[in-house]
Amino acid sequence: TLSPIDKAKYAAARRAADLVEDGMRVGLGTGSTAAWLVRCLGEMVREDGLKIRGVPTSSRTAALAREVGINVISLDEARWLDITIDGADEFDGNLNLIKGGGGALLQEKIVAAASDMMVVIADAGKEVGTLGAFPLPIEVIPFGWQTTQALVEETLISLDVLGRQTTLRMNGAKPFVTDEGNYILDLHLQRIGNPRQMALVINQMPGVVENGLFIDICDLVCIGHGDGRVEMRD
Ligand code: A5P
Repeated sequence: TLSPIDKAKYAAARRAADLVEDGMRVGLGTGSTAAWLVRCLGEMVREDGLKIRGVPTSSRTAALAREVGINVISLDEARWLDITIDGADEFDGNLNLIKGGGGALLQEKIVAAASDMMVVIADAGKEVGTLGAFPLPIEVIPFGWQTTQALVEETLISLDVLGRQTTLRMNGAKPFVTDEGNYILDLHLQRIGNPRQMALVINQMPGVVENGLFIDICDLVCIGHGDGRVEMRD
């Protein structure tokens, strides 16, 4: 039996899977909620003969998608996608997001931006009034990462933010390395009053590849509850 949080994630994923139709090219998100979606779609492929092509947003998701029987293609083969369904670490009332808790924000953003529609699946606990309690992931090039880190922290002095401390994401004793071979700095801001400005400022800095703020990308959020209810927000 599932815990209430897993029930919520599953319910959201199950509902979003119903948006997927025969012939679609589908962006497959990363994380524990997106894994439910991939399993749901796999079941629909195997049992209902659903015909889709899936573009994964991480090596982890690619492995799971193949395992459950989804036809996996690359983004360059697909070129554009009908829909992308992915999790999030936070979403606000404008459907802006923080993503990258799982470290896959770069591929996730590229895939979401190439999609006609991006759907977020999340348990109700991910909803916030203001983004930023969840540390903002920033993907940086390993070369000179400490210089980039200092630059990020200095630049944020000029912005109206509470915290500006960054921590290098670790994998045991070594830096966590993304699928693209980069590092992640987690930025502890507590609240992000102007996420649009924050996203632009951070992406201007040399050494920064991408940040986890998804602004004006998400079209619909399926919010799952522990009792199996799903709310749709668009
Ligand atoms: C992966 O890089 C993230 O963007 C995930 O979408 C996010 O961390 C949500 O993961 P869960 O569904 O496991 O909470």
